[in-house]
Amino acid sequence: MTTYTSVPYDFRDKPAGYAQLAQALSGLLAGELDLIANAANTAALVYDALDEVNWVGFYFMQGGELVVGPFQGKPACVRIPLGKGVCGGAASRRETLLVRDVNEFPGHIACDAASRSEVVIPLIRNDGTLLGVLDLDSPRPARFDEQDRKGLETLARIFLASLD
Ligand code: SME
Repeated sequence: MTTYTSVPYDFRDKPAGYAQLAQALSGLLAGELDLIANAANTAALVYDALDEVNWVGFYFMQGGELVVGPFQGKPACVRIPLGKGVCGGAASRRETLLVRDVNEFPGHIACDAASRSEVVIPLIRNDGTLLGVLDLDSPRPARFDEQDRKGLETLARIFLASLD
């Protein structure tokens, strides 16, 4: 059985920190195909590793809308229509949305009033279907930058690859 103990990732060099985290995630998910198990462990690992995040988790496509999946943080909105909010926007556009100030994003859905910035990565399977999104919120404005986007997109790819 693979065990996981909290490792202090060093994000002073962000790309290096994400490389460490990517390696840890690959190890954590290795040999397991279950969607819920791997989503839960991905959310827990990332939430534990990153500073200044108050929500990390998944929404999965179900019946044409996003439905909340495994996450860490405060209870969240359950259903988000495609095209609504940051999550619905990233899902319908099929591209990562990095929002430096959620108050300036028209239609932002405030699940936790503490959230000030957000990044949402669409999860697109090899066959082109949209599985859902990976969503991270922070209480700090502009918490996420291009290096976070790249690092988190790599983590999302590792999560997706674990399912096949
Ligand atoms: N803020 C998101 C909703 C999900 S919560 O942040 C967990 C949005 O606007 O889509």
